[in-house]
Amino acid sequence: MSASIQSSGGVITCRAAVAWGPGQPLVLEEVEVAPPKSMEIRVKVVCTSLCRSDVTQWQSQAQPDLFPRIFGHEASGIVEGIGDGVTEFEIGDHVLTVFIGECGRCTHCRSSKSNMCQNLGLERRGLMHSDQMTRFRVKGRPAYHYCAVSSFSEYIVVHSGCAVKINPTVRMDRACLLSCGVAAGIGAAWNVADISKESTIVIFGLGTVGLSVAQAAKIRGASRIIGVDINPEKFEKGKTFGVTEYINPDECREPVQQVIKKLTDGGADFSFECIGDTDIVSTALQSCCDGWGVTVTLGVPKTKPEVSTHYAFLLTGRTLKGSLFGGWKPKSDLPSLVDKYSNGEIKLDELVTHEIPFERINDAFDLMREGSCLRCVIHMQKEL
Ligand code: APR
Ligand code: ZN
Ligand code: ZN
Repeated sequence: MSASIQSSGGVITCRAAVAWGPGQPLVLEEVEVAPPKSMEIRVKVVCTSLCRSDVTQWQSQAQPDLFPRIFGHEASGIVEGIGDGVTEFEIGDHVLTVFIGECGRCTHCRSSKSNMCQNLGLERRGLMHSDQMTRFRVKGRPAYHYCAVSSFSEYIVVHSGCAVKINPTVRMDRACLLSCGVAAGIGAAWNVADISKESTIVIFGLGTVGLSVAQAAKIRGASRIIGVDINPEKFEKGKTFGVTEYINPDECREPVQQVIKKLTDGGADFSFECIGDTDIVSTALQSCCDGWGVTVTLGVPKTKPEVSTHYAFLLTGRTLKGSLFGGWKPKSDLPSLVDKYSNGEIKLDELVTHEIPFERINDAFDLMREGSCLRCVIHMQKEL
């Protein structure tokens, strides 16, 4: 199927990978992308990486009405169209898309304590923030968005508050990783936990998110970084990111939190849940020490959303902290994180285990489910 880009001011016809139902393989379809409305921009997606949350939500049976749907949210692209009132962007700007925006005006955007924008927060209904409508049509019917981004389409419309201008010299096929998972991990370590030098860290789950926590902890000077994962292959990669010790819970004769307590003389200073399993939240809490232990949760639950733990683990002085996008305010903070990659201060290349053309997008889903993949970068416009 060949895509025909009709005009830059009106409706664009292009290719998108459409999910017609939960867990159904994506189908490359010709879709119509509306022009940007007020305060929106239209973006030509250059690269999108598959995030675990795309897979989780695509598999989920929780919102069967939100199909056909276009997933994807970790992406880099080039501004193609500008809606009324947008002064911040010009056509040709390089941008990252973000799943929580920064309006700059609400109480949270004005507070240094939060990145939970009240106007452009996590969109769960498959629609655009501003008018609760969709900008896509496929086979004559509306297609739902994902996180108000939907980067598995060659062209997308996003709110201008959900895009971040980046240095145009930075590789688009690497910067896209900072649009979600890697930034979430680094921010959890630096902003949310605020890891101190010489501290002991435990990370549950050594996927892209957990490894990003590890590299951030190493940069902060953590003395021990203990990685917990049921897949032993993850330890080799973990060493590159600063993981100093590895525990496979399947090989432990006692609960993994007991093993960690013994190993760390009473518990770690910080623990991180980077799996997306709410049962592990209690395990992570029990793995950090009385008095000052802090557990940060980052995972997006695959099934059970409730968290349960014994009250005593909190009474004894531990803190449980939630975080979304690592506490970063996207517009204020992401450009400097991108610069840190350019300057060699943070690693991204080592997280890209696979690269494929758009036509093979279903392979990315298979690779992530098989467990061999950290990030698979999908090149939207390029033959590989
Ligand atoms: N105990 C330990 N490790 C586990 C367990 C378990 N019970 N279950 C899974 N894992 C490991 C996997 O082997 C994998 O290495 O957790 C890791 C999770 O990594 P990915 O699936 O690659 O996910 P990632 O992209 O790192 O995201 C982690 O953060 O953004 C959210 O939705 C995302 O919930 C997900 C989490
Ligand atoms: Zn706001
Ligand atoms: Zn994500």
